[in-house]
Amino acid sequence: TLPSLVELVDVGPRDGLQNEKQPVPAAVKIELVHRLQAAGLKEIEVTSYVSPKWVPQMADNTEVMSGIQRLPGVRYSVLTPNLKGFEAALRDQPDEIVVFGAASEAFSQKNINCSIAESIERFAPVVDAARAAGIYVRGAISCAVGCPYEGYVPPESVKYVATLMSSIGVQHIGVADTIGVGTPLKVQRALDAALSVYTVDDISGHFHDTYGQALANTLAALEMGVWQFDTSVAGLGGCPYAKGATGNVATEDVVYMLHGMGIETGIDLDALVDAGQYISEQLGRPSGSRVARALLAK
Ligand code: HMG
Ligand code: MG
Repeated sequence: TLPSLVELVDVGPRDGLQNEKQPVPAAVKIELVHRLQAAGLKEIEVTSYVSPKWVPQMADNTEVMSGIQRLPGVRYSVLTPNLKGFEAALRDQPDEIVVFGAASEAFSQKNINCSIAESIERFAPVVDAARAAGIYVRGAISCAVGCPYEGYVPPESVKYVATLMSSIGVQHIGVADTIGVGTPLKVQRALDAALSVYTVDDISGHFHDTYGQALANTLAALEMGVWQFDTSVAGLGGCPYAKGATGNVATEDVVYMLHGMGIETGIDLDALVDAGQYISEQLGRPSGSRVARALLAK
């Protein structure tokens, strides 16, 4: 049975912009967040508190977080890989934090410079501190179907990380196809593994569209009852530690598909297309959303 309502987290300001070579001014990021919330997004992944040497584009995290005029009912989430990042984030009062691990050892090393087991040790005090502060904790499981360094990633690896995340109190997990290599049945197997640890209400899909599979993978997840997804306006993005990975599935494309299926999102597609058009113009390139391009050509 398909869900009748779907919640989308727009990760464009974070996952989308983290990989841009040219610095994107904080004012542009803030304006993008404002446009996304005006379009009806109820959760926005704003930035990350990571090393500015590793990801220079997110060095303006505090400036961006403090420049947002928050709307009631909208949740603002940020990535925090360790206590140092969490302590900095806490001052900027996020509603949710994301600790990010991986189902692949090699990717864990390249992305956060430690093994999977070490990452869990680093996350544990972050999770404790966040929950003590009343902040909801999500965990991202990167490379849940494939890894740029290891290739195939078996569902058992997803189950392994999900179990570890659950053991330290992570409340929700995102099953992430970091490099967009997944196809529907592989994604369903990864989600099945996640479902052996978390309930369907505590799992979201995070699909990159590198191979053009993300909408099909989203539908495959919907068929399993998954109703929460990370998407990125204008299809922005890619991970700096996953070479060749393109952006997340475009929020516009997912909204169009869902509305066409009679599934509610609370998002105004026209206003969302405007938000995507704004950031695409700022970046000086066409939108990665097929739906946005089709609507704008009309
Ligand atoms: P490390 O070098 O192992 O950390 O990096 P360290 O504790 O040894 O510290 C080294 C230096 O970094 C020190 O500074 C620390 O102060 C500093 P120095 O003394 O050399 O001047 N440092 C920090 N600075 C700011 N904020 C912090 C922080 N922590 C240490 N939080 C670390 C470990 C995790 C920090 C590093 O590897 C890192 O920043 N990695 C960035 C990873 C990243 O942002 N990746 C992209 C996001 S994940 C993603 O996109 C996937 C996702 O979308 C899901 C999917 O699609 O799969 C979520
Ligand atoms: Mg991602």
